[in-house]
Amino acid sequence: MSSNTGEKVGAVLVVGAGVGGMQASLDLAEAGYKVYLVDKGPSIGGVMAQLDKTFPTNDCAMCTLAPRMVDCGGHLNIEKLTYSEIESIEGEAGNFNVKIRKKARSVDPDKCTGCGECSEHCLVKNIVYLEPPAVPKIELEADDLSKVDEIIGRYSGGRESLLPILQSINTEFNWLPEGMLRRVAEIKQIPIEHILRLATFYKSFSLEPRGKHIVTVCTGTACHVKGAPRILERFERDLGIQTGQTTSDMQFTLEAVRCIGCCGLSPVITIGEDLYGKLSPAEAAKILERYRD
Ligand code: FES
Repeated sequence: MSSNTGEKVGAVLVVGAGVGGMQASLDLAEAGYKVYLVDKGPSIGGVMAQLDKTFPTNDCAMCTLAPRMVDCGGHLNIEKLTYSEIESIEGEAGNFNVKIRKKARSVDPDKCTGCGECSEHCLVKNIVYLEPPAVPKIELEADDLSKVDEIIGRYSGGRESLLPILQSINTEFNWLPEGMLRRVAEIKQIPIEHILRLATFYKSFSLEPRGKHIVTVCTGTACHVKGAPRILERFERDLGIQTGQTTSDMQFTLEAVRCIGCCGLSPVITIGEDLYGKLSPAEAAKILERYRD
């Protein structure tokens, strides 16, 4: 750096305020130099702040970085020029003239406390919220409405009560009717999108009507080698449906699942809450018959 008269001055420009730039600035500042620390980012810290651990010691990145950021931030000999870029450099060693372009900020860095409020309400970044188009309301039968209201009433609290509510509706109706999910959304003030995300995440929930009895055949490796595919075929034939379908009288829904943790009993089937193991296709068919109304 130089004064306007061309005399050599004890000032240093450090470009880049990552961990290396900060350490260099601290060392120079401690040695008595005036340091101009330039970074094009809005803050000092660089990319290390985005890391969790560092190779090869597996040290916490933030534990390494944070003390240097604090020291740099408060050092009287270091002038931070963030959100700034170098436009030109002229001169020679010990006598430089550097032109720096400081980009405009929408906040006053001297007053900023880093609370993040401005970014939350940023008019440039945030998408304007528009009311979603009205979805036709699905009317529930009076009976269903009182049942679902009773289930919702069992659980206090907001979002944390959603999963047990869905489980209870699923147990009661064997599926999750959309009208009921909308009722949950209305009473618990939870967006329907959030409820649908949860309802479609778990395989045990269904958004399609299911039969009175859910028949599952385990097709995990142990059950497969012990004849599960033949049991599945027999069920498909006897019920007249494919796996994943429900009989037209709404009695049975047939599903295939992967290992249910009873490999010692393979091949395993479940009908509702009941579990049966070590079955031949004929034995499985007989058990299924017992559930017919
Ligand atoms: S593979 Fe069927 S219970 Fe494990």
